[in-house]
Amino acid sequence: MADKRHTYSYPTRIEYGPGAMKDFASIVKETGLKKGLIVTDKGIEKVGIAGQLKDYFTAVGIESVVFSDVKSNPTEANVLDGTKVYKETECDFIVALGGGSPIDTGKTIKVMATHDGPLEKYDDTKGGDKYIKNNMPPFYAIPTTAGTGSEVGRSSVITVNNKKTIIFSPFMMPDIAVLDPMITVSLPPKLTAATGVDAFVHNLEAFIMETYHPMADGMAKEAMEMCVKYLGAAVNNGSDIIARGNMLMASAMGAIAFQKGLGLNHAIAHGLGVFYDMHHGLANAVVLPEVMRYNLSRDLTREKYASLGVIFGVPNDAEAVIEAVEEWLKTVDMLKKLSELGVGTDKFAELEAYALEDPCCPLNPKKVEEGDVVGILKRLF
Ligand SMILES: [Fe+2]
Repeated sequence: MADKRHTYSYPTRIEYGPGAMKDFASIVKETGLKKGLIVTDKGIEKVGIAGQLKDYFTAVGIESVVFSDVKSNPTEANVLDGTKVYKETECDFIVALGGGSPIDTGKTIKVMATHDGPLEKYDDTKGGDKYIKNNMPPFYAIPTTAGTGSEVGRSSVITVNNKKTIIFSPFMMPDIAVLDPMITVSLPPKLTAATGVDAFVHNLEAFIMETYHPMADGMAKEAMEMCVKYLGAAVNNGSDIIARGNMLMASAMGAIAFQKGLGLNHAIAHGLGVFYDMHHGLANAVVLPEVMRYNLSRDLTREKYASLGVIFGVPNDAEAVIEAVEEWLKTVDMLKKLSELGVGTDKFAELEAYALEDPCCPLNPKKVEEGDVVGILKRLF
């Protein structure tokens, strides 16, 4: 509330616009750094974007090493392997290039470059942030998807001992986030849609969070409007730079806004990622309408949902907004049932147990009770 103390961290330097990745190499050159570890994944390497960045570095006289052994739900092993390469090849900075997985991995390699393991020690839910010191190498992030916004975030999510673990420290914030819509044009329509819905959900969950943060609320609302306006265009025409640029920005805005926290939507989506390796954005899309309906019984949340009517061109009424969200998801082929995605009822109890333990769960504005998640999952089946 407005009568309590709060600390807000606003983000890193952002270099936005077509061609920003090329300019970034010169910006790094000015700092005097000599050799970078490019953390990416096989897909980005295959489409040539990692090679393009390497070429930009070479052109300004900076050496670079590509590390692309990163899973879609990155693991502790991915982080430790990357850290080993960073040390063995004597790099002096890290640049993550890709979706949330390479960026989270790069961010955590930055931690492990100067900190002892195991990674479990830094689990944010166990107070691990206090062990993370400000002695880490320079770190830059270049997103190739518009979804996680990890490039402006202070945390990473890594699977440690089969559990999605949040590593958090204000010192993990990238030094520069490079938002270049040109490098997102090759993202296929399905991934564009899934990551774009993830960006929307970040903004929505941040928006309904009851922490006092009007700056984040304003940003979240604007970004949701951008998602609704531009995601379809980015899905239907990948080369639409205006749509791609707006989605990149909405994604970064979501991650700034969710400094307030995320809620039940992400708690369940994290479980679907762990149990079924389901894409994070798709998992968030699948559960979105029913999590919104579940939250309706909290008056403050209902009011917040209702205020979004203007974004969708419907009356300021919470039920009308949820129906509009479903219609919007349908337009980008993201309105799915769990049964269509290979999720069986046999795992519902385990998924609930996982969600209840997830760090996002206690932040949900409506208190989640036993049986609630199974109820939501049944309605989604
Ligand atoms: Fe997310």
